[in-house]
Amino acid sequence: MTWADLLQKIYDSPVGTAVRESGTLFPWIESLHVLMITTVVGTIAIVDLRLIGYGAHRRSARQLTADLLPFTWVAFALAVVTGVLLFASDAVNYWANGPFRFKLIALALAGLNMAIFHLTTERKIVEWEDAVPPLAARIAGATSLGLWILIVFLGRWIGFTISH
Ligand code: HEM
Repeated sequence: MTWADLLQKIYDSPVGTAVRESGTLFPWIESLHVLMITTVVGTIAIVDLRLIGYGAHRRSARQLTADLLPFTWVAFALAVVTGVLLFASDAVNYWANGPFRFKLIALALAGLNMAIFHLTTERKIVEWEDAVPPLAARIAGATSLGLWILIVFLGRWIGFTISH
């Protein structure tokens, strides 16, 4: 099966067809997508700003991260599920859309940035959790914040540029 066949199969699937043909499903799912995004980006922004060195200074960086990340992960899982449902409704055209592809790349880069931070700087977080974050943490926080702003921008841009 080629990639084009797979996209067409997703488009023709019962789920893709239902979201496309129902008058109400797409707006409901997109609204849920946006709601989940506000939680993902909101909680990540608080952690990123703490890593950069702004705000929440009286809270340990480790404690702040531990308190917020469960909300981030649940909202992220729901953002992915709703995003995939929206994608299924018009898989061929979304895949051909530049901002959609760039959004996926930016999402992967945000994941990579987070993984690198977890595997390196965060390992020694007990040494700096109550102090000014080290340069590596500030770079990770600024990179993450920039990427998430870009992801939201690209997500909205899909709607302005897609040809259904
Ligand atoms: C947490 C990660 C994500 C963020 C921050 C995000 C962000 C956004 C934003 C801001 C919009 C525009 C909403 C609007 O027009 O009101 C959007 C729409 C959309 N997203 Fe996401 N998204 C995420 C994950 C995903 C994933 C994983 C997929 C699919 C694989 C996806 C697929 C879509 C689709 C198909 C649309 C509809 C575009 C349209 O026709 O207007 N998203 N997203």
